[in-house]
Amino acid sequence: MAADRVRWGIIGCGWIAHAFAKGLSLVPNAELVAGASRTAGKAAEFAAQYPPMRVYTDYESLVKDPEVDAVYVATTHNFHLDNVRLALSHGKHVLCEKPITINAAQLEELIALAKEKKRFLMEALWTRFLPGITKLKELLASDVIGTPRVVNAFFGIDRDDDPEHRLLNPRLAGGAVLDLGVYPLNFAHIVFGGAPEASTSLAWLGRTGVDEISSYLLRFPEGRMAMLTSTCKVAEIDEAVIYGKKGRIRVEKFLRPVAIHVETESGTETFDVRFPSSGFQYEIEEATHCILKGKTESSVMPLSESLAIMRLMDRFRGEWGLTYPEER
Ligand SMILES: NC(=O)c1ccc[n+]([C@@H]2O[C@H](COP(=O)([O-])OP(=O)(O)OC[C@H]3O[C@@H](n4cnc5c(N)ncnc54)[C@H](OP(=O)(O)O)[C@@H]3O)[C@@H](O)[C@H]2O)c1
Repeated sequence: MAADRVRWGIIGCGWIAHAFAKGLSLVPNAELVAGASRTAGKAAEFAAQYPPMRVYTDYESLVKDPEVDAVYVATTHNFHLDNVRLALSHGKHVLCEKPITINAAQLEELIALAKEKKRFLMEALWTRFLPGITKLKELLASDVIGTPRVVNAFFGIDRDDDPEHRLLNPRLAGGAVLDLGVYPLNFAHIVFGGAPEASTSLAWLGRTGVDEISSYLLRFPEGRMAMLTSTCKVAEIDEAVIYGKKGRIRVEKFLRPVAIHVETESGTETFDVRFPSSGFQYEIEEATHCILKGKTESSVMPLSESLAIMRLMDRFRGEWGLTYPEER
């Protein structure tokens, strides 16, 4: 591996892989060198848009490529365990799309493997690295609204039409909580830090048996609460509000913040936190930097937090009786 750059390969050339490739083009010490897709023609079509890069029609060939240092796993949820395991086993560093696995037991296995192989592993929770979230952390630390007491976050999209789509398909480990809920859950963890001490949830399971609307109520230590909802049954909206004694902070599009409004007795102050391109450049910068520094995990998205959130999602699915085929 070169000392000054990381050569990236992509497993799965679907929708999100494009956002990754666009973001990566803005990261100076990252290079996209290869892509693998099991769908005929897809990798070649993808590579034509982001030249020069090598193309593989199976994932094993990509992880055996000695000129690939790190792998971005961009397949659907159900494949993450196998794909990450494959890449780590071949000595690659890994950045894996959210949710990093479908349950905590799978993630525990991957964390142990990454440790054994001494390789970097991170969940690609891109929101955590965006300028708006950095600004939000600064605002919270400045005490502008006082101690944040309550977080309300909602993420909804309109995607309940196709039972085969990865959002609704149980064979692809679909469902609102794993696909969408992971964002408000991360948001609450970002604001409050650490894990909740108590939680409960409710869901409505649709025709494919996965949750199409689910809500989560979390109590964090020292009297702090989060009320979170995700659903694929409404017009696309994501918004979050944080309440404190001196006022509130509204985060417009908290998944990919564009503006932050601080509302206190002295009025409203708005911060423009838009970013260029896909926004994936920030998480890629972090992963690339960690890998070049020889770090095996990121302090911004530590594995312990991915695991804490995965355990919560396990608990919620347990409350609703929702299991995926590979868990039975
Ligand atoms: N960070 C974000 O904002 C964001 C947004 C959307 C999605 N995501 C995450 O990104 C990941 C992929 O989502 P996506 O929307 O890109 O998914 P997608 O385009 O539907 O599928 C991605 C890849 O997964 C494989 N795949 C999909 N369906 C399959 C099936 N039925 N059988 C076998 N393989 C299948 C294919 O790999 P091959 O190319 O090898 O055929 C496909 O190219 C998920 O983890 C999702 O949660 C993140």
